[in-house]
Amino acid sequence: MLSRQTSYTSRLLSCKNNQTQSPRRNTTVNERQKTITRLSNHVAGNKNLPANMRNESLWLFYNGAQENFMNDTLLLGFPEYAAPARSLANWLKLPYATIELHRFPDGESKVKLPASLPASLILCRSLNQPNDKLIELLLSAETARAAGVRQLILVAPYLCYMRQDIAFSPGEAVSQGIIAAWLARLFDGVITVDPHLHRINSLTEVMPNTHAVSLSADKLIAALLQSRTRHPLLVGPDSESRQWVARIAAHAGCDFIIAEKQRLSDHEVRITLPPGELRGRTAVIIDDIASTGRTLAATATLLREAGAAAVHCCITHALFAENAEQELQQASVQEIWSSDSIPHASNAFSLAPLLAEAIEG
Ligand code: R5P
Repeated sequence: MLSRQTSYTSRLLSCKNNQTQSPRRNTTVNERQKTITRLSNHVAGNKNLPANMRNESLWLFYNGAQENFMNDTLLLGFPEYAAPARSLANWLKLPYATIELHRFPDGESKVKLPASLPASLILCRSLNQPNDKLIELLLSAETARAAGVRQLILVAPYLCYMRQDIAFSPGEAVSQGIIAAWLARLFDGVITVDPHLHRINSLTEVMPNTHAVSLSADKLIAALLQSRTRHPLLVGPDSESRQWVARIAAHAGCDFIIAEKQRLSDHEVRITLPPGELRGRTAVIIDDIASTGRTLAATATLLREAGAAAVHCCITHALFAENAEQELQQASVQEIWSSDSIPHASNAFSLAPLLAEAIEG
C-alpha cells in the first residue's frame, strides 16, 4: 500500500524527465516560463530566505534545470515549524517560504501566503497543540486553492487527534475520523509519521478520497539505538506499542518485552511488566507519543525497581505536555531521544530524509 501511495506522491509532485503524469503536462512552454519567472521573483524577493538559499533556488531556475524544477512546487512552512520545514525543502531542493501569521487580540488568526503561488504546493506543519493550527491550515488551504493551486499536499509529521478513535461513552465525538476526513477534504495528499493507529490498520481508512501516506520512523530509531546503546532491551509500555517495538527490535537486532497498561485517567496509568530477569540490563522504553509522560515514567520506575542498570526513552513525537519532563527525571530516566516532528530539547534525529524519500519516490 505504502509503495503505491508513495509512487503516487512522487508522480504528483515530480515532473522529472517530463513524466506524462506530471500535473504540468498540459501547460504550454509560455505558461511554464511565466510561472518560473513568477516563482523566481517570489523566491528572490523573499526576505525570510537566507541569501544563499535564494541563490540556490534561483540556480534551480536558471541553470538549465527549469524542466526538472520539481514541477512548479513550493514548500511552505509556518513560523513555529520553520526549521524542520526548511530542512525538508532543502532535502527536496525546493524553494521555501514561511507563511506569515498574525494573532488578533481576540484570538483569531490571520494568515498570509506568498502573493504568487505555483501549481503545486506543499504545506509542512506538525499538528501538536492543534486547535489554532487546524484553523490556520484551513485558511491557508482555501487561500491556496483560490489562488489557483491545483495540487495541495500536507506534510504533518505529527498528526493530531488520532488517539480518540472510538466513542468510549455515548455522545463522545470520534475525533480521529472527523479530523482525518476533514483534512482529506482539504488536501490532495497527506503525509505523516507514526500516526497513532490502534483500532484501524491504515490511515486510508479514515482519510477517504485523498492519498494518505503513513510513514514509520522505525528504521531511524533502530539506527539511533545502534549508535547510542549496546545490547539494549527494548520495552513497549502497552499492547498498542507492540507493532512498532517489534519492528524496531528486528531492525536493531535486540530483545524486547511488552508491558501491560491500564489508563485510569489523563494523568494516571498502571503498568505491569511481564515476568523476566531485568537486573543489569540497559532498558529503552519505546513509544510513539509522550504526552503527560506518565506512561514512560511509570514504566521506568518499574524497570528501575526490577534492577535495570539504566533506563532511556525513545519516542517519535515529543508532545511533553505540562510537567512531563519533570516526571521522567523523577523516575530516573537517563536519556530521552525523540524525532524532530515536534521541536524539543530531546530531538535526536531528523525526519526530513524519510519525508523527502516519500515525496520524491
Ligand atoms: C497511547 O497509548 C500512546 O501510545 C502513548 O502511550 C500515550 O499517548 C502516552 O501518553 P502519556 O504520556 O500521557 O502517558
